[in-house]
Amino acid sequence: MRIAGFLSCLALCLTIAVPCRISAQLSKAVNPTDTPYSIVTPVLDAKIPPERNLLYCAAFQLAWDELRQNLKPSLPDAPTAILALDKRLVGKPDLPEDACFALGSLGGGLPDKIRAEVRKKFGAAAPPLDDLATTLAAYALLVRNLQFQQEFTLHEKPLIFSTNGTPFAAAAFGIDPDKGAESVRAKMRAQVRVIDYNPKTSEFVVRLQSRSQDDEIILARVSPETSLLQTIEAVSARIAKGEAAALAAGDILAIPRISLAVRHVFPEISRYVGAMAGRPASAVQQIHFTLGEKSSALKSEGRTPSSTRGRELMFDRPFLLWLRKTSSRYPYLALWVGHPEILQAAGTPPKAASIAPAVSAPASASSAAKAGLDGRALVETRCADCHPLSKVYGAKHTSAQWAATVKRMVVSRGAKLTAAEQKAVVDYLSSR
Ligand code: HEC
Repeated sequence: MRIAGFLSCLALCLTIAVPCRISAQLSKAVNPTDTPYSIVTPVLDAKIPPERNLLYCAAFQLAWDELRQNLKPSLPDAPTAILALDKRLVGKPDLPEDACFALGSLGGGLPDKIRAEVRKKFGAAAPPLDDLATTLAAYALLVRNLQFQQEFTLHEKPLIFSTNGTPFAAAAFGIDPDKGAESVRAKMRAQVRVIDYNPKTSEFVVRLQSRSQDDEIILARVSPETSLLQTIEAVSARIAKGEAAALAAGDILAIPRISLAVRHVFPEISRYVGAMAGRPASAVQQIHFTLGEKSSALKSEGRTPSSTRGRELMFDRPFLLWLRKTSSRYPYLALWVGHPEILQAAGTPPKAASIAPAVSAPASASSAAKAGLDGRALVETRCADCHPLSKVYGAKHTSAQWAATVKRMVVSRGAKLTAAEQKAVVDYLSSR
């Protein structure tokens, strides 16, 4: 039997002082300016911003829960993200046990322990962990690889994904009633359920069944509610009252291939943990996720086009995607797709995710660029979040050393600066 579609989610870590680097390969691909339109949230109760992707992975909650036990109850003025994490909307039972690893502690000696545990748990599927810092305090990893029994078809024509911005020609997979043998299409259709299809509004929910009976993959082409959580609740309500119908032979299903590798540092949480622990801290989340049919090399086994035209289930507008344990109320991975930057362009081979940390909304960055960047102002506003400015002004560096330091602040420590802003900062610091 051919192994089919392929879906993997993945990885996050929360560390003190020096965040872990999961793999050299990945850190090479990490370029914080690559995904300016993607935002990572540590909690489900986050606003969906217009024209942006919003990504949530529950693994962070587990790392937080572990670390929490080692922290004093609370400091005044905890940021809202901390308050939301402390509500513990999701917990261990909501994550697939065989896919998740989380560890949090302010003690030392964790890297060796983590390496051993991760290897034991994931074997060959374990990401390389050569670079774990000795100051690591908490770490969580989610590795999910869901496969479909029957591989889906890669559509020949691109799926034109539109938001209010420019239309994007995305590589898409699904079911094409004119392609392949009917017997194969029947097997693909058996993996799909359509819930609450509304031809007037073109809203619908699709459930994909992977080989794992415990996981549910939901794709919902709906209008967003205010927050990710509210949108999930609204879709859950539709699923609860709607009937799950089979696909008809003439129906088209088209889902864009999604690929993202995000390393995200939460400065607010870092600062808070640092204040409680009495030393610098970084809260880092790393997520690596791909959704697509496994291989584009589809050998067609004869064509028996379907005679009747059916529905068009096209994910060509913003939509919600989630992975949830069938026994859970909330997903362990949720993604609002509102911007095409995480979709694969049509005509490109399937790739492992190669995109990186989300940075804050780029609108301000580009307007700043137009206005001319003030290196000094940037240093004063962006470099004092995690350590006093004296740390910056106290360092005597050459221009090359500043470039390296600033880059490290962005890539590994979580400072949020675009490429242009980094340059302005380096220029300013080198000229002092
Ligand atoms: C999100 C937290 C964070 C932000 C924001 C941040 N830093 Fe840092 N910085 C750290 C941490 C953690 C260390 C200690 C570990 C290290 O040196 O990498 C550090 C260390 C440093 C050091 C001492 C080490 C060295 O290489 O000289 C300098 C200088 C520095 N930062 C400059 C900056 C500048 C300039 C900015 C703004 C562009 C900045 N930092 C923004 C977290 C941050």
